[in-house]
Amino acid sequence: MSDPQLVLTERVQRALGAAFGEEYSSADPLIRPSQFADYQANVALSLGKRLRRAPREVADEIVSHLDVADVCANVEISGPGFLNLTLRDDWIAGEATRELREGLRAGGERRTVVIDYSAPNIAKEMHVGHLRTTIVGDALARIHERLGDRVIRQNHLGDWGTQFGMLIEYMLEIGEDVARAQLASGEINEFYQAARSRFDADKEFADRSRRRVVLLQGGDETTLALWREFVDDSLAYINRVYDKLGVTLTDADLAGESKYNPMLADTIEELEAKGVAVESEGAICVFPPGFTGRDDQPLPLIVRKSDGGYGYATTDLAAIRHRVRDLRADQMLYVVGADQSLHFQMVFAAAREAGWLTGQRAEHIQIGMVLGRDGKRFRTRSGESVKLMDLLDEAVERAGKVLADRDYDEETRNEIAQAVGIGAVKYADLSVNHASEYIFDFDRMLALTGNTAPYLMYAAVRVRSIFRRGGFTPEDARGPIVVGAPAERALAKQLLAFGSVLTQVAETSEPHRLCAYLFDVAQAFATFFEECPVLKAPDEATRDSRLALSALTLDVLVTGLGLLGITVPERM
Ligand code: ARG
Repeated sequence: MSDPQLVLTERVQRALGAAFGEEYSSADPLIRPSQFADYQANVALSLGKRLRRAPREVADEIVSHLDVADVCANVEISGPGFLNLTLRDDWIAGEATRELREGLRAGGERRTVVIDYSAPNIAKEMHVGHLRTTIVGDALARIHERLGDRVIRQNHLGDWGTQFGMLIEYMLEIGEDVARAQLASGEINEFYQAARSRFDADKEFADRSRRRVVLLQGGDETTLALWREFVDDSLAYINRVYDKLGVTLTDADLAGESKYNPMLADTIEELEAKGVAVESEGAICVFPPGFTGRDDQPLPLIVRKSDGGYGYATTDLAAIRHRVRDLRADQMLYVVGADQSLHFQMVFAAAREAGWLTGQRAEHIQIGMVLGRDGKRFRTRSGESVKLMDLLDEAVERAGKVLADRDYDEETRNEIAQAVGIGAVKYADLSVNHASEYIFDFDRMLALTGNTAPYLMYAAVRVRSIFRRGGFTPEDARGPIVVGAPAERALAKQLLAFGSVLTQVAETSEPHRLCAYLFDVAQAFATFFEECPVLKAPDEATRDSRLALSALTLDVLVTGLGLLGITVPERM
């Protein structure tokens, strides 16, 4: 652990314990970056109230018990009782050197984390909202893994349910071969819409479709075979998107709604036996306490409809039971659209009532809507939902244009455009809070300045070019790091926070914090690059130190972006 803020937090806590008794050693010392020193601790003010003593006196007492000679060059009390803490240059340099040589180590006790993400619906075009859940979920999965957690990815595909009765009937009606040809040409949306209008227009067709669902749920062989075809077709498409996007999901992570079909009856039985689910108007429902609808009526989570069918909620109840019992999850993250918030609250509440959720954490990581530049739901000009493949292709194409003036051969240019285009889409998604809406804007995400993927990639590529020009490699740059110039000091200090930022991101499920941090690093590097010549440093020791600092910067940028699922090209 070398994040100065954490180190100082621990030291001040020790001082609090020594000065005022053990019960104070877990108080938050309220350490924040400061413009007057490196950090300021504000704990004396809040503690003054609690102890009924003058904050300044409390501050004096803390300082007299504070053991930071190895870390701080200066500790000062200012104003009503702020503690101003200034780090020692040699401490920063020493920690940075150690970080460079030993790398980031994961600490603490790690857990099994189930991450439910992506989860597109079969037989419908995957939309841009699924792109977002995919990107955010994938970043969280990578970060937890990096910290040593056992991550179990669960792609809760919408591959089951009533729409398949309709799709299969429509397929039989127009002829299997015609249907196959249509589906093979990627017209899945059109196919779905045509089936839907038949369903809405013709009662007899609708009845047949319903009977088909019963056949499907009952395991009828021919029906299942046709269903499998839909699923496989869709999966092939979804996998192409995943591939293009460079996400870590594989077929092994597929855990669609259909997987839970054999567990549903048992799940419901258990809910009934425990008195959690009850009959209501012919249906079987859970009424989790605290949820009311209109007229203060208790809100039901329907586990079995009056026609005997199972729905989305039933599947999620079976899934959460499976995740806790069989997958042994300590924590479950559901990276899903914010509009499903009530659904998850009720599922978690029901699972708690059923005794499935005890100490484990279950969290809905709410994903905000993706908007177009007009501030409305993101659609094509003609008002249709945007095909993801087209969107990604366009990102790559536009990235290619941004790089048009570079003198690269075709293949290199394509490779770079690929990394920049996809990276830009991902970063734009990740750099805003996952719960906020965000505006999908190619121009903004591909800009070479500002908090964008191209800017960060460019910073990393610049570091690489220093090494290339000097005939060095980052691996050989081992320091020691010495901090003299303010820009060296600021950069080194910034780099030391990497590990604790990752821990924080995992704890809060907020990848945008990592983006903000990497942006700060890139900016600190830009200043360093301007003010501190590396290859033309005044002497060899300074040059080696600056090379080492550059190598550490590169490592943090490439690792950090990698954890966001973004690949940095060799050149740009
Ligand atoms: N398929 C659903 C949708 O597109 C998302 C599923 C999310 N995961 C879950 N366990 N319910 O809305």
